[in-house]
Amino acid sequence: MGLPSLKPCLLLIFLFLLNVSTINSKPSKVEPVLFGGNFQALYVIGDSLVDSGNNNNLNTSVKANFAPYGSDFEGGKPTGRFSNGKTIADYIAIYYGLPLAPAYMGLSEEQKNNISTGINYASASCGIFPDTGTQLGKCLSLSAQVDLFEKTIDNNLKKKFKTNSELTKHLAGSLFMTAIGVNDYAFYFKETTDPNEFAKKLLHDFLKQIKRLHELGARKFFINNLKPLGCYPNYIVANTVPRGSCSKYLNKAVAKYNVKLRKSLTHLKKTFSEASFLYSDYFNFMLGLRGPSTNQVSSNLMNSISPCCPSVYDGDKRTSCTPRSSSCKVPDTHIFFDPFHPTELANFMYSIGCFQQRKVCQVV
Ligand SMILES: *[C@@H]1O[C@H](CO)[C@@H](O)[C@H](O)[C@H]1NC(C)=O
Ligand SMILES: *[C@@H]1O[C@H](CO)[C@@H](O)[C@H](O)[C@H]1NC(C)=O
Repeated sequence: MGLPSLKPCLLLIFLFLLNVSTINSKPSKVEPVLFGGNFQALYVIGDSLVDSGNNNNLNTSVKANFAPYGSDFEGGKPTGRFSNGKTIADYIAIYYGLPLAPAYMGLSEEQKNNISTGINYASASCGIFPDTGTQLGKCLSLSAQVDLFEKTIDNNLKKKFKTNSELTKHLAGSLFMTAIGVNDYAFYFKETTDPNEFAKKLLHDFLKQIKRLHELGARKFFINNLKPLGCYPNYIVANTVPRGSCSKYLNKAVAKYNVKLRKSLTHLKKTFSEASFLYSDYFNFMLGLRGPSTNQVSSNLMNSISPCCPSVYDGDKRTSCTPRSSSCKVPDTHIFFDPFHPTELANFMYSIGCFQQRKVCQVV
């Protein structure tokens, strides 16, 4: 996978640590390819965790199309991905033998007509609620992303697949990945918010769009749950939460959503018998990767507290990685590339946990 020479050593340490905590729950019967595979396409719906460059073309300050972003992406290309390299959506594409899904907003009409291996609609700062993130500029909310997917079907895929049955087959044979909802917590969840009510409302709006995708022909869903936002550098604000610890009320609230989400997939599976769902427990993956340490350099020898960029991080909520920020020399010695997003190595470790160890991801 073209990893620089330093990484194998870090990876070994990581694999060892992951094994310690996950070895006791190996599934007895292991599918050769998780979730069957043989997908015709990967369609990505989400936020900055998986945005592959949509925000580059939107009027917003939330962009990642400048150095040091992308320093490890195809020899150093800032594509708009919020990391030094590949995202988890990229690793999912690679695992299933598909090209990395290009950002919808960066495609010409001709390119859209020519692509049948998937498109990425994910947009940084946006969320499930229509107004989430708009405080920072334009972005594509969940429903706007599904609107664009519908447009792709009508304007492009119907040209590519001449008959209805061909199109139906393509859609049913494609993988739909979603990773969205944490920004709704970041923007709207306060210590005084009722976590149950908030989660219920958010999940209701999420499922509405999943049902819409199903109505449009989607059948295979790869659903990523929400990250432990309360442990992310941008939330570890000096004075309220000690550096190295996590905001408990926020993590508890997000975990509540995740539990409801997992349950709703079991229910959906019963309602839509011909659909299948994979639940990806990104929350616990990131908690595990971060480790219990409260030190800058945790037990896994990685810096799991401070981001690579900006390298001088004062723990402020608004601090972000800008073109003028100083950044660390070797991003993959960190878990976080910027205060909000993981490094490529963290994303790669996710794919090991999901696809190889079969611990993080679970077919419903
Ligand atoms: C972009 O957004 C800013 C801030 O809302 C606004 O002032 C500006 O006119 C917008 N630019 C364009 C090209 O729409
Ligand atoms: C269409 O897609 C094929 C295969 O990916 C590619 O080789 C070709 O250059 C594309 N054509 C256009 C006009 O984009």
